[in-house]
Amino acid sequence: MATKSKFQAIRGTRDLLPPETALWNHVEQTAHSVFGTFAFGEIRPPVFEPTELFARAVGGDTDIVSKEMYTFKDYDSSQELQGLWILIFSAKDPKTQDETLDLAKLAGKLIAVGRSALESGQLSKTPENLRALDQIELYASKLPGIANQGQRETGPVAAALRDAVTELDLGDELSLRPEATASVCRAYIEHGMQQLPQPVKVYYMGPMFRRERPQKGRYRQFYQIGAEVLGGSDAPAIDAEVIEMVMTFFDRVGLSDVELDINSIGHNAPDCRPAYVQKLKAALEQVKDKLGADSQRRIETNPLRVLDSKLEREQAIIATLPRIADHLCTECAAHYAAVKRQLELRGVFFKENWRLVRGLDYYMRTTFEITAKGLGSQNAVCGGGRYDGLVELLGGPPTKGIGFAIGEDRLILSLQENGKGAAPQGRDVYIAWMGERAYATAVRAAKDLRNAGFSVELPPTELKFGKALERADKLGSRYALILGDNEVSEGSWTLKTLADGTQQKFTEPELLEFLKSVKASGERL
Ligand code: HAM
Repeated sequence: MATKSKFQAIRGTRDLLPPETALWNHVEQTAHSVFGTFAFGEIRPPVFEPTELFARAVGGDTDIVSKEMYTFKDYDSSQELQGLWILIFSAKDPKTQDETLDLAKLAGKLIAVGRSALESGQLSKTPENLRALDQIELYASKLPGIANQGQRETGPVAAALRDAVTELDLGDELSLRPEATASVCRAYIEHGMQQLPQPVKVYYMGPMFRRERPQKGRYRQFYQIGAEVLGGSDAPAIDAEVIEMVMTFFDRVGLSDVELDINSIGHNAPDCRPAYVQKLKAALEQVKDKLGADSQRRIETNPLRVLDSKLEREQAIIATLPRIADHLCTECAAHYAAVKRQLELRGVFFKENWRLVRGLDYYMRTTFEITAKGLGSQNAVCGGGRYDGLVELLGGPPTKGIGFAIGEDRLILSLQENGKGAAPQGRDVYIAWMGERAYATAVRAAKDLRNAGFSVELPPTELKFGKALERADKLGSRYALILGDNEVSEGSWTLKTLADGTQQKFTEPELLEFLKSVKASGERL
Protein backbone atom coordinates (compact mmCIF):
# COMPACT_ATOMS: atom_id res chain seq x y z
CA MET A 1 0.00 0.00 0.00
CA ALA A 2 1.36 3.43 -0.85
CA THR A 3 2.08 5.54 2.22
CA LYS A 4 2.41 9.29 2.30
CA SER A 5 5.72 10.60 3.48
CA LYS A 6 7.05 14.09 4.00
CA PHE A 7 9.17 13.66 0.87
CA GLN A 8 7.68 13.13 -2.51
CA ALA A 9 9.04 13.34 -6.03
CA ILE A 10 8.95 16.94 -7.26
CA ARG A 11 5.84 17.85 -9.27
CA GLY A 12 6.34 16.83 -12.88
CA THR A 13 9.00 14.24 -12.02
CA ARG A 14 8.41 10.59 -11.19
CA ASP A 15 10.04 7.34 -10.30
CA LEU A 16 10.13 4.75 -13.02
CA LEU A 17 9.66 1.42 -11.33
CA PRO A 18 9.89 -2.26 -12.22
CA PRO A 19 8.27 -3.93 -14.05
CA GLU A 20 7.72 -0.82 -16.23
CA THR A 21 11.47 -0.17 -16.42
CA ALA A 22 11.80 -3.46 -18.32
CA LEU A 23 9.77 -1.84 -21.10
CA TRP A 24 11.99 1.27 -20.98
CA ASN A 25 15.05 -0.95 -21.32
CA HIS A 26 13.48 -2.83 -24.20
CA VAL A 27 12.68 0.43 -26.00
CA GLU A 28 16.21 1.75 -25.43
CA GLN A 29 17.82 -1.51 -26.54
CA THR A 30 15.74 -1.41 -29.71
CA ALA A 31 16.92 2.16 -30.37
CA HIS A 32 20.58 1.13 -29.89
CA SER A 33 20.08 -1.73 -32.28
CA VAL A 34 18.04 0.04 -35.00
CA PHE A 35 20.16 3.22 -34.97
CA GLY A 36 23.27 1.01 -35.10
CA THR A 37 22.01 -0.55 -38.33
CA PHE A 38 21.83 2.98 -39.81
CA ALA A 39 25.47 3.45 -38.71
CA PHE A 40 24.79 6.00 -35.96
CA GLY A 41 27.08 6.12 -32.91
CA GLU A 42 26.00 7.08 -29.41
CA ILE A 43 26.89 10.46 -27.87
CA ARG A 44 26.32 11.24 -24.18
CA PRO A 45 26.46 14.97 -23.56
CA PRO A 46 26.19 16.37 -20.02
CA VAL A 47 22.76 17.27 -18.64
CA PHE A 48 23.71 20.88 -17.91
CA GLU A 49 25.29 23.50 -20.11
CA PRO A 50 25.70 27.29 -20.10
CA THR A 51 22.27 28.92 -20.27
CA GLU A 52 23.53 30.96 -23.19
CA LEU A 53 23.98 27.86 -25.35
CA PHE A 54 20.26 27.11 -25.21
CA ALA A 55 19.28 30.78 -25.43
CA ARG A 56 21.25 31.11 -28.68
CA ALA A 57 20.33 27.78 -30.23
CA VAL A 58 16.70 27.29 -29.26
CA GLY A 59 15.98 31.04 -29.24
CA GLY A 60 15.51 33.57 -26.45
CA ASP A 61 11.88 34.24 -27.42
CA THR A 62 10.75 30.63 -27.40
CA ASP A 63 8.61 29.29 -24.54
CA ILE A 64 11.34 26.76 -23.76
CA VAL A 65 14.02 29.36 -23.09
CA SER A 66 11.93 32.25 -21.81
CA LYS A 67 9.71 30.31 -19.40
CA GLU A 68 10.67 26.71 -18.96
CA MET A 69 14.36 26.32 -18.18
CA TYR A 70 15.78 25.24 -14.85
CA THR A 71 18.58 27.74 -14.46
CA PHE A 72 21.07 28.08 -11.63
CA LYS A 73 24.35 29.71 -10.75
CA ASP A 74 27.47 27.62 -10.71
CA TYR A 75 29.60 29.16 -8.02
CA ASP A 76 33.17 29.16 -9.22
CA SER A 77 34.34 31.72 -6.68
CA SER A 78 35.83 30.72 -3.35
CA GLN A 79 33.92 28.43 -1.04
CA GLU A 80 34.17 31.06 1.69
CA LEU A 81 32.60 33.75 -0.48
CA GLN A 82 29.82 31.40 -1.49
CA GLY A 83 29.12 30.49 2.12
CA LEU A 84 28.93 34.14 3.18
CA TRP A 85 26.75 34.95 0.19
CA ILE A 86 24.29 32.22 1.13
CA LEU A 87 24.30 33.19 4.84
CA ILE A 88 23.46 36.83 4.10
CA PHE A 89 21.09 36.07 1.25
CA SER A 90 19.04 33.76 3.47
CA ALA A 91 19.36 35.83 6.69
CA LYS A 92 16.12 36.92 8.36
CA ASP A 93 15.67 40.57 9.38
CA PRO A 94 17.65 41.05 12.62
CA LYS A 95 15.45 41.34 15.73
CA THR A 96 17.96 42.34 18.37
CA GLN A 97 20.95 44.61 18.59
CA ASP A 98 23.25 41.58 18.68
CA GLU A 99 21.68 40.06 15.57
CA THR A 100 22.09 43.36 13.74
CA LEU A 101 25.73 43.59 14.70
CA ASP A 102 26.26 39.95 13.63
CA LEU A 103 24.79 40.72 10.22
CA ALA A 104 27.05 43.77 9.87
CA LYS A 105 30.03 41.60 10.79
CA LEU A 106 29.08 38.96 8.21
CA ALA A 107 28.71 41.64 5.55
CA GLY A 108 32.10 43.07 6.53
CA LYS A 109 33.65 39.65 6.07
CA LEU A 110 31.93 39.22 2.70
CA ILE A 111 33.34 42.56 1.53
CA ALA A 112 36.88 41.62 2.59
CA VAL A 113 36.68 38.14 1.02
CA GLY A 114 34.95 39.57 -2.06
CA ARG A 115 37.62 42.23 -2.62
CA SER A 116 40.43 39.72 -2.34
CA ALA A 117 38.54 37.37 -4.71
CA LEU A 118 38.39 40.27 -7.19
CA GLU A 119 42.16 40.60 -6.96
CA SER A 120 42.84 36.87 -7.36
CA GLY A 121 40.44 36.61 -10.29
CA GLN A 122 38.05 34.23 -8.51
CA LEU A 123 35.36 36.89 -8.79
CA SER A 124 34.95 38.60 -12.17
CA LYS A 125 35.88 42.29 -12.16
CA THR A 126 32.64 43.36 -13.82
CA PRO A 127 31.10 46.80 -13.22
CA GLU A 128 28.10 44.97 -11.64
CA ASN A 129 30.28 43.17 -9.11
CA LEU A 130 32.22 46.33 -8.22
CA ARG A 131 28.97 48.23 -7.74
CA ALA A 132 27.44 45.41 -5.68
CA LEU A 133 30.41 45.36 -3.30
CA ASP A 134 30.18 49.14 -2.85
CA GLN A 135 26.47 48.86 -2.09
CA ILE A 136 27.03 46.04 0.40
CA GLU A 137 29.65 48.18 2.12
CA LEU A 138 27.31 51.15 2.26
CA TYR A 139 24.45 49.23 3.90
CA ALA A 140 26.72 47.24 6.18
CA SER A 141 28.25 50.48 7.47
CA LYS A 142 24.79 51.80 8.38
CA LEU A 143 23.83 48.83 10.55
CA PRO A 144 25.98 49.42 13.69
CA GLY A 145 24.66 52.99 14.04
CA ILE A 146 21.00 51.87 14.09
CA ALA A 147 21.47 48.50 15.80
CA ASN A 148 19.68 49.63 18.96
CA GLN A 149 16.74 51.26 17.21
CA GLY A 150 14.61 48.16 16.61
CA GLN A 151 13.43 46.22 13.60
CA ARG A 152 11.55 49.08 11.98
CA GLU A 153 14.82 50.85 11.40
CA THR A 154 17.09 47.87 10.78
CA GLY A 155 14.66 45.81 8.62
CA PRO A 156 14.78 47.99 5.46
CA VAL A 157 18.58 48.32 5.64
CA ALA A 158 18.95 44.54 6.02
CA ALA A 159 16.64 44.05 3.04
CA ALA A 160 18.66 46.51 0.94
CA LEU A 161 21.83 44.69 2.00
CA ARG A 162 20.37 41.36 0.87
CA ASP A 163 19.33 42.90 -2.47
CA ALA A 164 22.87 44.18 -3.00
CA VAL A 165 24.22 40.72 -2.23
CA THR A 166 22.01 39.13 -4.88
CA GLU A 167 23.53 41.53 -7.42
CA LEU A 168 26.93 39.91 -6.88
CA ASP A 169 27.58 37.57 -9.77
CA LEU A 170 29.55 34.69 -8.30
CA GLY A 171 29.67 32.42 -11.28
CA ASP A 172 28.33 31.10 -14.54
CA GLU A 173 24.67 30.72 -15.24
CA LEU A 174 23.87 27.15 -16.17
CA SER A 175 20.69 25.37 -17.19
CA LEU A 176 19.49 21.82 -17.13
CA ARG A 177 19.15 20.87 -20.77
CA PRO A 178 15.64 21.32 -22.17
CA GLU A 179 16.73 19.44 -25.32
CA ALA A 180 19.98 18.04 -26.68
CA THR A 181 20.43 19.35 -30.24
CA ALA A 182 22.28 22.41 -28.93
CA SER A 183 24.60 20.17 -26.88
CA VAL A 184 25.34 17.93 -29.86
CA CYS A 185 26.25 20.97 -31.98
CA ARG A 186 28.42 22.31 -29.15
CA ALA A 187 30.19 18.93 -28.94
CA TYR A 188 30.63 18.82 -32.74
CA ILE A 189 32.48 22.13 -32.60
CA GLU A 190 34.39 21.41 -29.38
CA HIS A 191 35.79 18.09 -30.64
CA GLY A 192 36.56 19.31 -34.15
CA MET A 193 34.22 16.71 -35.59
CA GLN A 194 34.23 18.48 -38.96
CA GLN A 195 37.63 16.74 -39.43
CA LEU A 196 35.92 13.33 -39.27
CA PRO A 197 34.41 11.66 -42.34
CA GLN A 198 31.15 13.51 -42.96
CA PRO A 199 28.36 13.41 -42.14
CA VAL A 200 28.72 12.69 -38.45
CA LYS A 201 25.73 10.60 -37.32
CA VAL A 202 25.03 10.43 -33.59
CA TYR A 203 22.16 9.50 -31.31
CA TYR A 204 21.46 10.08 -27.62
CA MET A 205 18.99 9.15 -24.93
CA GLY A 206 18.41 10.62 -21.53
CA PRO A 207 16.51 13.07 -19.36
CA MET A 208 15.53 16.58 -20.46
CA PHE A 209 14.03 19.27 -18.24
CA ARG A 210 11.30 21.80 -18.98
CA ARG A 211 9.19 23.61 -16.44
CA GLU A 212 5.89 22.99 -18.20
CA ARG A 213 2.47 22.46 -16.63
CA PRO A 214 2.45 18.74 -15.86
CA GLN A 215 -0.32 16.60 -17.35
CA LYS A 216 -0.66 13.20 -18.97
CA GLY A 217 2.34 12.81 -21.30
CA ARG A 218 3.93 16.06 -20.15
CA TYR A 219 6.54 16.08 -17.41
CA ARG A 220 9.18 18.42 -16.08
CA GLN A 221 11.79 15.70 -16.25
CA PHE A 222 11.11 13.66 -19.35
CA TYR A 223 13.19 11.42 -21.57
CA GLN A 224 14.15 11.78 -25.18
CA ILE A 225 15.75 9.43 -27.66
CA GLY A 226 17.16 11.57 -30.43
CA ALA A 227 19.54 11.55 -33.37
CA GLU A 228 21.41 14.20 -35.35
CA VAL A 229 23.25 14.19 -38.68
CA LEU A 230 25.85 16.94 -39.08
CA GLY A 231 28.12 17.67 -42.00
CA GLY A 232 28.62 19.39 -45.29
CA SER A 233 25.65 18.02 -47.22
CA ASP A 234 21.95 18.85 -47.12
CA ALA A 235 21.05 16.16 -49.66
CA PRO A 236 17.32 15.39 -49.42
CA ALA A 237 18.24 11.71 -49.06
CA ILE A 238 19.67 12.54 -45.62
CA ASP A 239 16.34 14.03 -44.49
CA ALA A 240 14.48 11.01 -45.84
CA GLU A 241 16.84 8.47 -44.30
CA VAL A 242 16.61 10.10 -40.86
CA ILE A 243 12.81 9.94 -41.08
CA GLU A 244 12.96 6.37 -42.36
CA MET A 245 15.09 5.49 -39.33
CA VAL A 246 12.51 6.80 -36.82
CA MET A 247 9.71 5.02 -38.60
CA THR A 248 11.71 1.78 -38.65
CA PHE A 249 12.34 2.17 -34.93
CA PHE A 250 8.64 2.75 -34.16
CA ASP A 251 7.77 -0.28 -36.23
CA ARG A 252 10.38 -2.46 -34.50
CA VAL A 253 9.30 -1.37 -31.05
CA GLY A 254 5.69 -2.20 -31.86
CA LEU A 255 4.19 1.29 -32.04
CA SER A 256 1.68 1.03 -34.81
CA ASP A 257 -0.88 3.60 -35.86
CA VAL A 258 1.42 6.58 -35.99
CA GLU A 259 1.04 9.51 -38.35
CA LEU A 260 4.00 11.29 -39.91
CA ASP A 261 3.43 14.94 -40.81
CA ILE A 262 5.99 16.84 -42.85
CA ASN A 263 6.45 20.40 -44.03
CA SER A 264 9.09 22.81 -45.29
CA ILE A 265 9.43 26.19 -43.63
CA GLY A 266 11.95 27.52 -46.16
CA HIS A 267 15.01 29.48 -45.18
CA ASN A 268 15.89 32.88 -43.88
CA ALA A 269 16.49 34.78 -47.15
CA PRO A 270 14.45 37.78 -48.38
CA ASP A 271 12.81 35.82 -51.19
CA CYS A 272 11.78 32.91 -48.93
CA ARG A 273 10.45 32.66 -45.37
CA PRO A 274 10.69 36.36 -44.41
CA ALA A 275 8.61 37.31 -47.47
CA TYR A 276 6.03 34.68 -46.51
CA VAL A 277 5.96 35.85 -42.89
CA GLN A 278 5.24 39.39 -44.13
CA LYS A 279 2.31 38.08 -46.19
CA LEU A 280 1.09 35.98 -43.29
CA LYS A 281 1.32 38.93 -40.93
CA ALA A 282 -0.67 41.13 -43.30
CA ALA A 283 -3.33 38.43 -43.63
CA LEU A 284 -3.45 38.01 -39.84
CA GLU A 285 -3.90 41.75 -39.32
CA GLN A 286 -7.06 41.49 -41.45
CA VAL A 287 -8.60 38.88 -39.15
CA LYS A 288 -7.04 40.04 -35.88
CA ASP A 289 -10.37 40.79 -34.17
CA LYS A 290 -11.54 37.22 -34.64
CA LEU A 291 -8.45 35.72 -33.00
CA GLY A 292 -7.84 34.96 -29.34
CA ALA A 293 -5.44 36.94 -27.15
CA ASP A 294 -2.51 34.51 -27.61
CA SER A 295 -2.70 34.60 -31.38
CA GLN A 296 -3.15 38.38 -31.39
CA ARG A 297 0.07 38.69 -29.43
CA ARG A 298 1.88 36.29 -31.74
CA ILE A 299 1.03 38.39 -34.81
CA GLU A 300 3.67 40.74 -33.45
CA THR A 301 6.12 38.33 -31.79
CA ASN A 302 6.10 35.29 -34.08
CA PRO A 303 3.29 35.11 -36.67
CA LEU A 304 4.27 31.57 -37.74
CA ARG A 305 3.33 30.26 -34.31
CA VAL A 306 -0.30 31.31 -34.88
CA LEU A 307 -0.47 28.32 -37.23
CA ASP A 308 0.14 26.08 -34.19
CA SER A 309 -3.08 27.20 -32.51
CA LYS A 310 -5.36 24.43 -31.30
CA LEU A 311 -8.22 26.84 -30.43
CA GLU A 312 -11.39 25.48 -31.99
CA ARG A 313 -12.79 28.85 -33.02
CA GLU A 314 -9.58 29.86 -34.82
CA GLN A 315 -9.37 26.82 -37.06
CA ALA A 316 -11.67 28.04 -39.84
CA ILE A 317 -9.82 31.37 -39.97
CA ILE A 318 -6.38 29.73 -40.07
CA ALA A 319 -7.51 27.53 -42.95
CA THR A 320 -7.85 30.67 -45.12
CA LEU A 321 -4.33 32.00 -44.44
CA PRO A 322 -1.56 31.95 -47.07
CA ARG A 323 0.46 28.71 -47.10
CA ILE A 324 4.23 28.59 -46.95
CA ALA A 325 4.53 25.87 -49.59
CA ASP A 326 3.25 28.40 -52.12
CA HIS A 327 5.92 30.93 -51.14
CA LEU A 328 9.13 28.93 -50.90
CA CYS A 329 12.14 30.11 -52.94
CA THR A 330 13.12 27.93 -55.90
CA GLU A 331 15.86 26.04 -54.02
CA CYS A 332 13.73 25.31 -50.95
CA ALA A 333 10.80 24.22 -53.13
CA ALA A 334 13.10 21.85 -55.05
CA HIS A 335 14.55 20.50 -51.80
CA TYR A 336 11.09 19.85 -50.36
CA ALA A 337 9.93 18.09 -53.54
CA ALA A 338 13.05 15.91 -53.48
CA VAL A 339 12.56 14.98 -49.80
CA LYS A 340 9.03 13.80 -50.63
CA ARG A 341 10.30 11.74 -53.57
CA GLN A 342 12.99 10.22 -51.36
CA LEU A 343 10.41 9.28 -48.74
CA GLU A 344 8.24 7.62 -51.37
CA LEU A 345 11.27 5.72 -52.62
CA ARG A 346 11.72 4.33 -49.12
CA GLY A 347 8.05 3.42 -48.75
CA VAL A 348 7.54 5.92 -45.91
CA PHE A 349 3.96 7.20 -45.74
CA PHE A 350 3.56 10.87 -44.83
CA LYS A 351 0.99 13.61 -44.69
CA GLU A 352 1.85 17.14 -45.71
CA ASN A 353 0.89 19.62 -43.03
CA TRP A 354 1.50 23.23 -43.99
CA ARG A 355 0.83 24.34 -40.42
CA LEU A 356 3.73 22.38 -38.95
CA VAL A 357 6.16 25.14 -37.91
CA ARG A 358 7.67 23.71 -34.66
CA GLY A 359 8.46 25.70 -31.53
CA LEU A 360 12.25 26.05 -31.67
CA ASP A 361 14.03 28.82 -33.59
CA TYR A 362 16.74 26.80 -35.28
CA TYR A 363 14.67 25.04 -37.92
CA MET A 364 14.74 25.68 -41.65
CA ARG A 365 13.41 23.71 -44.63
CA THR A 366 12.26 20.22 -43.59
CA THR A 367 10.19 19.93 -40.40
CA PHE A 368 8.36 16.81 -39.24
CA GLU A 369 6.34 15.48 -36.37
CA ILE A 370 4.98 12.04 -35.56
CA THR A 371 1.79 11.60 -33.57
CA ALA A 372 0.46 8.47 -31.89
CA LYS A 373 -3.07 7.39 -31.00
CA GLY A 374 -4.47 7.32 -27.46
CA LEU A 375 -2.35 10.06 -25.94
CA GLY A 376 -4.91 12.86 -25.74
CA SER A 377 -3.62 16.37 -26.39
CA GLN A 378 0.07 15.51 -25.84
CA ASN A 379 0.16 13.14 -28.78
CA ALA A 380 3.42 14.17 -30.49
CA VAL A 381 5.84 11.30 -29.94
CA CYS A 382 8.59 12.72 -32.12
CA GLY A 383 9.58 16.09 -33.52
CA GLY A 384 12.45 17.10 -35.72
CA GLY A 385 13.76 18.98 -38.68
CA ARG A 386 16.65 20.54 -40.52
CA TYR A 387 18.80 23.20 -38.86
CA ASP A 388 21.54 24.23 -41.31
CA GLY A 389 23.56 27.09 -39.86
CA LEU A 390 23.04 26.26 -36.18
CA VAL A 391 26.63 25.04 -35.74
CA GLU A 392 27.82 28.30 -37.31
CA LEU A 393 25.57 30.33 -35.03
CA LEU A 394 27.28 28.65 -32.07
CA GLY A 395 30.73 29.58 -33.36
CA GLY A 396 31.57 26.57 -35.55
CA PRO A 397 32.20 26.14 -39.28
CA PRO A 398 29.33 26.32 -41.79
CA THR A 399 27.54 23.00 -41.28
CA LYS A 400 24.27 21.41 -42.32
CA GLY A 401 22.22 19.52 -39.79
CA ILE A 402 19.05 17.52 -39.35
CA GLY A 403 17.68 15.42 -36.54
CA PHE A 404 14.76 14.45 -34.34
CA ALA A 405 13.87 13.62 -30.78
CA ILE A 406 11.36 11.02 -29.65
CA GLY A 407 9.48 11.61 -26.39
CA GLU A 408 10.21 8.31 -24.65
CA ASP A 409 7.62 8.83 -21.88
CA ARG A 410 4.90 9.29 -24.50
CA LEU A 411 6.14 6.37 -26.54
CA ILE A 412 5.95 4.12 -23.46
CA LEU A 413 2.47 5.44 -22.60
CA SER A 414 1.29 4.70 -26.09
CA LEU A 415 2.74 1.17 -26.03
CA GLN A 416 1.01 0.54 -22.71
CA GLU A 417 -2.31 1.86 -23.98
CA ASN A 418 -2.03 -0.48 -26.94
CA GLY A 419 -1.58 -3.44 -24.62
CA LYS A 420 2.16 -3.70 -25.13
CA GLY A 421 3.16 -2.98 -21.54
CA ALA A 422 5.83 -4.99 -19.77
CA ALA A 423 5.02 -8.39 -18.38
CA PRO A 424 5.39 -8.64 -14.62
CA GLN A 425 8.94 -9.52 -13.81
CA GLY A 426 8.95 -13.16 -12.67
CA ARG A 427 11.85 -15.26 -11.42
CA ASP A 428 13.12 -18.33 -13.18
CA VAL A 429 14.04 -20.14 -10.00
CA TYR A 430 13.22 -19.53 -6.36
CA ILE A 431 15.52 -21.47 -4.05
CA ALA A 432 13.64 -22.76 -1.01
CA TRP A 433 16.33 -23.84 1.44
CA MET A 434 16.23 -25.08 5.02
CA GLY A 435 19.20 -25.89 7.24
CA GLU A 436 22.73 -24.60 7.42
CA ARG A 437 24.29 -27.15 5.08
CA ALA A 438 21.55 -26.62 2.59
CA TYR A 439 22.19 -22.87 2.74
CA ALA A 440 25.81 -23.25 1.63
CA THR A 441 24.67 -25.39 -1.30
CA ALA A 442 21.88 -22.92 -2.08
CA VAL A 443 24.39 -20.04 -2.30
CA ARG A 444 26.52 -22.07 -4.71
CA ALA A 445 23.50 -23.16 -6.76
CA ALA A 446 22.33 -19.52 -7.02
CA LYS A 447 25.77 -18.49 -8.28
CA ASP A 448 25.90 -21.27 -10.90
CA LEU A 449 22.36 -20.65 -12.12
CA ARG A 450 22.91 -16.89 -12.36
CA ASN A 451 26.16 -17.44 -14.26
CA ALA A 452 24.16 -19.55 -16.69
CA GLY A 453 21.81 -16.59 -17.20
CA PHE A 454 18.81 -17.57 -15.05
CA SER A 455 17.11 -15.09 -12.72
CA VAL A 456 17.28 -16.49 -9.23
CA GLU A 457 15.74 -15.47 -5.93
CA LEU A 458 17.61 -16.69 -2.87
CA PRO A 459 15.82 -15.82 0.39
CA PRO A 460 18.32 -14.27 2.83
CA THR A 461 16.87 -15.99 5.90
CA GLU A 462 15.54 -19.47 6.44
CA LEU A 463 11.84 -20.02 5.74
CA LYS A 464 9.70 -23.09 6.33
CA PHE A 465 9.17 -24.83 2.99
CA GLY A 466 5.45 -23.99 2.97
CA LYS A 467 6.13 -20.29 3.48
CA ALA A 468 8.95 -20.30 0.94
CA LEU A 469 6.76 -21.88 -1.74
CA GLU A 470 4.07 -19.31 -1.05
CA ARG A 471 6.65 -16.53 -1.59
CA ALA A 472 7.94 -18.17 -4.74
CA ASP A 473 4.41 -18.22 -6.12
CA LYS A 474 3.77 -14.57 -5.22
CA LEU A 475 6.94 -13.52 -7.01
CA GLY A 476 5.77 -15.22 -10.19
CA SER A 477 8.56 -17.81 -10.12
CA ARG A 478 8.47 -20.57 -12.67
CA TYR A 479 10.29 -23.15 -10.54
CA ALA A 480 11.13 -23.66 -6.89
CA LEU A 481 14.33 -25.53 -6.17
CA ILE A 482 13.88 -27.34 -2.87
CA LEU A 483 17.06 -27.81 -0.89
CA GLY A 484 16.89 -29.36 2.58
CA ASP A 485 19.70 -31.11 4.40
CA ASN A 486 18.38 -34.47 3.04
CA GLU A 487 18.51 -33.32 -0.57
CA VAL A 488 22.04 -32.05 -0.06
CA SER A 489 23.37 -35.23 1.52
CA GLU A 490 21.67 -37.41 -1.12
CA GLY A 491 22.81 -35.14 -3.95
CA SER A 492 19.32 -35.29 -5.39
CA TRP A 493 17.59 -31.95 -5.76
CA THR A 494 13.85 -31.40 -6.10
CA LEU A 495 12.55 -28.98 -8.72
CA LYS A 496 8.90 -28.02 -8.39
CA THR A 497 6.99 -26.46 -11.29
CA LEU A 498 4.81 -23.92 -9.57
CA ALA A 499 2.12 -23.71 -12.23
CA ASP A 500 1.01 -27.35 -11.81
CA GLY A 501 2.73 -28.49 -8.62
CA THR A 502 4.65 -31.33 -10.31
CA GLN A 503 8.07 -32.24 -8.93
CA GLN A 504 11.14 -33.79 -10.50
CA LYS A 505 14.40 -34.99 -8.97
CA PHE A 506 17.76 -34.05 -10.49
CA THR A 507 21.43 -34.26 -9.70
CA GLU A 508 23.14 -30.88 -9.79
CA PRO A 509 24.51 -31.15 -13.38
CA GLU A 510 21.20 -32.64 -14.60
CA LEU A 511 19.30 -29.71 -13.17
CA LEU A 512 21.38 -27.18 -15.06
CA GLU A 513 21.03 -29.19 -18.28
CA PHE A 514 17.27 -29.44 -17.80
CA LEU A 515 16.81 -25.69 -17.26
CA LYS A 516 19.05 -24.88 -20.19
CA SER A 517 17.05 -27.16 -22.45
CA VAL A 518 13.80 -25.46 -21.40
CA LYS A 519 15.33 -22.09 -22.18
CA ALA A 520 16.71 -23.29 -25.52
CA SER A 521 13.24 -24.48 -26.51
CA GLY A 522 12.34 -20.77 -26.59
CA GLU A 523 9.98 -20.85 -23.63
CA ARG A 524 10.19 -18.05 -21.13
CA LEU A 525 11.42 -19.88 -18.13
P1 HAM B 1 10.63 18.97 -29.30
O1 HAM B 1 9.50 18.93 -30.27
O2 HAM B 1 10.70 20.11 -28.38
O3 HAM B 1 11.96 18.88 -30.16
O4 HAM B 1 10.64 17.64 -28.44
C1 HAM B 1 10.63 16.37 -29.06
C2 HAM B 1 9.68 15.44 -28.34
O5 HAM B 1 9.99 15.39 -26.96
C3 HAM B 1 8.22 15.87 -28.39
O6 HAM B 1 7.61 15.49 -29.60
C4 HAM B 1 7.65 15.10 -27.21
O7 HAM B 1 7.37 13.76 -27.57
C5 HAM B 1 8.81 15.10 -26.22
N1 HAM B 1 8.58 16.14 -25.18
C6 HAM B 1 8.82 17.45 -25.26
N2 HAM B 1 8.49 18.07 -24.10
C7 HAM B 1 8.02 17.10 -23.27
C8 HAM B 1 7.52 17.06 -21.92
N3 HAM B 1 7.45 18.17 -21.18
N4 HAM B 1 7.12 15.89 -21.41
C9 HAM B 1 7.19 14.74 -22.14
N5 HAM B 1 7.66 14.70 -23.41
C10 HAM B 1 8.07 15.85 -23.97
C11 HAM B 1 13.22 18.88 -29.66
O8 HAM B 1 13.49 18.74 -28.49
C12 HAM B 1 14.30 18.96 -30.71
N6 HAM B 1 15.60 19.00 -30.03
C13 HAM B 1 14.20 17.79 -31.66
C14 HAM B 1 15.25 17.83 -32.72
C15 HAM B 1 16.40 17.13 -32.73
N7 HAM B 1 15.21 18.58 -33.80
C16 HAM B 1 16.31 18.37 -34.48
N8 HAM B 1 17.04 17.51 -33.85
